[in-house]
Amino acid sequence: MEMVKTQSGRKPLGAQVNIPPRRMDFDFSKAPRNGYANDEYMTTFWAAFSALFPKGESFFVEAVRPYRNQIHDEILKAQIAGFIGQEAMHSKEHISFNKFFAKQGYPMDKLDHDVGKLLSLIQKYAPSRFQLAITVCLEHYTAIIAEYCLKADDMHRMADPEILKIWLWHALEENEHKTVAFDVYETVGGSYTERALVMFPTTIILAFMFLWFHSRLLAHDKRLFSFKKNWAGTKHFWGRGGMFQGIVPQLLDFLKPDFHPKQHDTDELLDLWREKLFGEKGILNEQLNSVQNKKLVF
Ligand SMILES: [Fe+2]
Ligand SMILES: [Fe+2]
Repeated sequence: MEMVKTQSGRKPLGAQVNIPPRRMDFDFSKAPRNGYANDEYMTTFWAAFSALFPKGESFFVEAVRPYRNQIHDEILKAQIAGFIGQEAMHSKEHISFNKFFAKQGYPMDKLDHDVGKLLSLIQKYAPSRFQLAITVCLEHYTAIIAEYCLKADDMHRMADPEILKIWLWHALEENEHKTVAFDVYETVGGSYTERALVMFPTTIILAFMFLWFHSRLLAHDKRLFSFKKNWAGTKHFWGRGGMFQGIVPQLLDFLKPDFHPKQHDTDELLDLWREKLFGEKGILNEQLNSVQNKKLVF
């Protein structure tokens, strides 16, 4: 049974509503250079994705935080605490994951700088409700990609076990808190029209950033125009039966007026992975029960 407690022995607020912030400290020092299918294209695909997280998840937290005082429902308040705690940990661990790629010469700092620049422009000029709507859209992406990651046996086979850990932990928590930004948005009067309209530019910018980042990482490996070598990876992620095709139906659900993230029922999947990661024989259990977690205050 999973235990996350503060120093006082009290469960953190987020943990009381099944969104426990879990402090991790992944060690990538022994991970191979190409930790996904021993292939540069596939490995840098995930590195490009990871490059978006440190600044991206801080943006999510800053978009939700100002609304904390407008929420009076005690459960949603606790869920916000859990959401903020989990996203803060994700930023921290993806910084460390990105450093692992930077050590191999990949321009991770430049990518991080570029995401930061774009997001700080949005924070400077966009109204806070718009920032919250962007967060709802992007949290939809993280939730459905995370669900894919938890279910994708081929990913579990192809990824290096140490590298897989960060993605499984992150994927689990993205699904644990997938309703939070959405519920905050609706509680403070966010409309269907606004979130549906915001999804379009958000998707275009996200796709552009991601493809641009992946291209820059591939260029570092001199693989950008190696179409033959990149074919297997391209098919795996973008082709028929690949990752992108797998998430399209769930992506489109967001455009239904009565959509709520709970409609994608992941309760059983989460129980399964909580047990695998943090249960009695959980592969991340040792980290979870370390002294560090007792210092959590979220
Ligand atoms: Fe996250
Ligand atoms: Fe999230």
